Amino acid sequence: MLKEWLKDSHYTVVFTGAGMSTESGLPDFRSSNQGLWEKKDPSKIASIDALNNNVKDFTAFYRERVLGVTEYHPHKGHYILAEWERLGIIQSIITQNVDGFHQLAGSKRVAELHGTLQKLHCQECGKVFDSNEYIKQEYHCSCGGVLRPSIVLFGETLPEDAFQLALNEAQRADLLIVLGSSLSVTPANQFPLIAKENGARMVIVNEEQTELDAYADLVIHNKKIGVLLQELNQ
Ligand code: APR
Repeated sequence: MLKEWLKDSHYTVVFTGAGMSTESGLPDFRSSNQGLWEKKDPSKIASIDALNNNVKDFTAFYRERVLGVTEYHPHKGHYILAEWERLGIIQSIITQNVDGFHQLAGSKRVAELHGTLQKLHCQECGKVFDSNEYIKQEYHCSCGGVLRPSIVLFGETLPEDAFQLALNEAQRADLLIVLGSSLSVTPANQFPLIAKENGARMVIVNEEQTELDAYADLVIHNKKIGVLLQELNQ
């Protein structure tokens, strides 16, 4: 059914979450018993408050995640999505992921709603650094400010350009496919609903139940994303 819908669709948008990168080796956040937030409270470590009041734990936690995105790499599924964009099978990707793996695999039209771990910037002067500074355990700018990953922390707003691109793509879609998200974080989880409200078919591919399953036209719970993308790519 999804294969036909992909063929019939004139404007297909893919919406990805952390489940898109677990097959690369990166942990997700809420998978029962192995998600990152099963062990840590995000409000205490992934928040602007943690950056300001708990900088030692903050930098140690994000150094681990920066190491993760340098040690692990996009998997076959990321490359298939990039190929599909080249072939005009999909038009864009809206991602909550900060690993940069869609772009590393060759995808061009990507709305990074939550920013990227591939870059850092100074919290004081805004100067941009490569994330390698964290690997070298360099945590300060020459101006004295703290370097932080260029991701959206809890308590911060989403980047305007990514938000607008995602909004336009969701409104234009006639097929929106969610890959690997529990759809539990706002405002990111609104985009599949916006697509649906604008007449799109909405498909959810996720190993576990999501908060929006009831709104989907098709839900696939029993197949890993990498396996499904390779099957669809035959
Ligand atoms: N195939 C299919 N589904 C998978 C796979 C896989 N290989 N691996 C994991 N999943 C599913 C899990 O069952 C889980 O429900 O992917 C989902 C990932 O959900 P979350 O861990 O909640 O990740 P996500 O939805 O991207 O989180 C959104 O929360 O902490 C913030 O900013 C962070 O962007 C993140 C946001």
